[in-house]
Amino acid sequence: MKQNGIWIASPVDQGQAAVGFRQEFCPAKPVRRAVFQVSAMGIYALYINGRRVGKGVLTPGWTSYSHRVQVQSYDVTELLTGPARIEIGLGQGWAVGYIGYGHTNHYFADHPSLIGWLEVTYTDGSTALLGTDESWDVYTTEVTSSEIYHGETVDKTAPTTFLGKAVRSDVRTRLVPQQGEWITEQERLAPVEVIRTPKGERVLDFGQNMTGYVELRIRAPRGSRVVLHHAEVLDRDGNFYTGNYRSARNENIFVCSGGEDVFKPTYSFQGFRYVQLVEFPFDTVDPDLFRAVVVHSDMKRIGRFVCGNEKINQLYHNILWGQKSNYLDIPTDCPQRDERLGWTGDAQVFCRTAAINYDVETFFRKWLTDVALEQGRDGAVSGIIPHCLKNKSTLVSAAWGDVACVAPWQMYLAYGDKGLLKKNFPLMKKWVDYIHSAGPEEYLWLGGQHYGDWLAMDGDPDRCEGATPTDMIASAYFAYSTGLLIQAGEALGEDMSAYRRLRERVVEAFRARYLPDGRLRLVPNGWKEGDAFPPLETQTAYVLILYFGLCEEKDRQALADRLAEMIRENGTRMTTGFVGTPYLLHALTENGYNDLAYELLMQERAPSWLYSVCHGATTMWEHWNSLKEDGSFWSTTMNSFNHYAYGAVFDWIFSVACGVSPVSAAPGYREVNLAPRPDRCLGFVQTSLETRHGCLRVHWYYKGDRVYYEFEIPAGVTAHLRLPSGYAADLPAGCYHFAE
Ligand code: BGC
Repeated sequence: MKQNGIWIASPVDQGQAAVGFRQEFCPAKPVRRAVFQVSAMGIYALYINGRRVGKGVLTPGWTSYSHRVQVQSYDVTELLTGPARIEIGLGQGWAVGYIGYGHTNHYFADHPSLIGWLEVTYTDGSTALLGTDESWDVYTTEVTSSEIYHGETVDKTAPTTFLGKAVRSDVRTRLVPQQGEWITEQERLAPVEVIRTPKGERVLDFGQNMTGYVELRIRAPRGSRVVLHHAEVLDRDGNFYTGNYRSARNENIFVCSGGEDVFKPTYSFQGFRYVQLVEFPFDTVDPDLFRAVVVHSDMKRIGRFVCGNEKINQLYHNILWGQKSNYLDIPTDCPQRDERLGWTGDAQVFCRTAAINYDVETFFRKWLTDVALEQGRDGAVSGIIPHCLKNKSTLVSAAWGDVACVAPWQMYLAYGDKGLLKKNFPLMKKWVDYIHSAGPEEYLWLGGQHYGDWLAMDGDPDRCEGATPTDMIASAYFAYSTGLLIQAGEALGEDMSAYRRLRERVVEAFRARYLPDGRLRLVPNGWKEGDAFPPLETQTAYVLILYFGLCEEKDRQALADRLAEMIRENGTRMTTGFVGTPYLLHALTENGYNDLAYELLMQERAPSWLYSVCHGATTMWEHWNSLKEDGSFWSTTMNSFNHYAYGAVFDWIFSVACGVSPVSAAPGYREVNLAPRPDRCLGFVQTSLETRHGCLRVHWYYKGDRVYYEFEIPAGVTAHLRLPSGYAADLPAGCYHFAE
């Protein structure tokens, strides 16, 4: 894009402190329109005459900075009625500060830099331009330290010191107009309780695990300090617990001016439910001084759901909050510890559910652009995007890299935009080609390093990968992603015959290795024909085979029966991890085990979805047993209480229990399958989805021994109805009532 300013930086390196760039602008004549475009390597905040401009926070957001950085555009016409004092604060943010487990800083740049230009059109048609250059003054600010992971210090007593004129900064990246959603402040939560813990800590409970920061309004003697620590949970004794944050300090320090102060961080955010007042100037705590500000990408909520079971409603609530907490410009794994990264596997498993809860088309359009930009020449897609690990590179792992095929396809199904599919078609194709050439076998993906069925309960308890051999997962995903690519290509009118042949071969090779006589033979990694191996079977292996359609039809039922049996043998509980869980209930429902799917959904003993609900969760947990029965925690090494991956179950609730799923031949719900599978355990469901064509509603409820259905189908949409009795009909727009 056209660039009317130059990249500038502070003449003196201020390390973790934010600096302020200042300039004056005096309109020569009445202004018709004035637009300020700003971007940064770091995080910036624009102020005109002391007022924060724009609805966005944490701008310019997070992209693959080495490739591109977004430029935000602000209409500042109304602020330019007279002389304007422009100040732009600049902190380190993701680009410069600590990132990627907290060991790495300066990953994208060694110091923050700023660029911007103000374009003014006067009422007489003449124009003026003010761009960043070496004439801008640079000052210290009240933000004396800020780090994404470690938090921010705001010192209202800090002197404002002139540091000199701005210097040119050598930033080599592409400027692009804002492509994603703005990150904005969404809600403000009041504390629900002030707690004195057994250790004597003073703690505010906001009642909801979330992402954002605390805003504090306070009048206290000049120089008095407020030190806030954050936590997601209390420990079993009720004390403040931060072990799971690992190296992330999440510490905000506010130093009072002596007057009325309003504090909140500008260049950092935290993931938390509880806040400890480590230092506070008063003996009594007025909870009303505090608000938790919920921050996330400004996605439009399009899905609603409520049912007759309070625990499932809480699960849905937790799933929504998992999304709110982790859709912060990129899809992150978690918002609190020294990670908060764009893990591709997590994004992959949850994106279908995400697209029902919120309109995430713009969000994914932006992030997928970065995925494509970072895709290797060989088609490899890494575990984290934007990639930001200096010493550790991430794995090119099956089920993680497959986001390249899954996410574009899911966005297409949900919103129906062929443009998005077309743009991402090369990404999809290159990924499949990558798998095709990976490893020693042409039609299987053997070898390589993978994350496996991450956090499954059936593996070595000291490891995270689960028991399902990664070769098998990788080869199953090879077939799955190739299938998605074929569907995408067909929708775009591409010749997909070569990929159809490829998929056939992959399925054949898969069957020969893993289903030699129609029954599962779970060959361990590295196995060669003739070697013996211990008998092994996993729920995830069955789930993938069934859901990805990898077995012969004649063998399907026996495989499903065995999956059901394994679940029963495990006390009607799953052992699946990130890879198997999203499809588990679908694999059961599609193969005659819908009742068992419901039983699993309603299971309260770990591992289960309702276990965390029964233990007070307000977001999804990373592990099935992040908090164990005995009140102890899984381990400090990796234990997030805000990881959305297992929230992917909402896709089943929506498409099976409520019965709503898109039709791939008429995506974006122009045609919709309506096939509710009611169950008394939910009592009723009421759901709605604002599709691109209008609002679709489903309501079913039990009365006596009958189920009553109500459907509302928006104009221009055709629904293919199928009720449990077998009754089927194609319904045009309208309202319908049925009873069975
Ligand atoms: C993340 C996961 C991620 C995984 C990769 C973890 O540290 O939090 O969610 O997918 O690493 O295996």
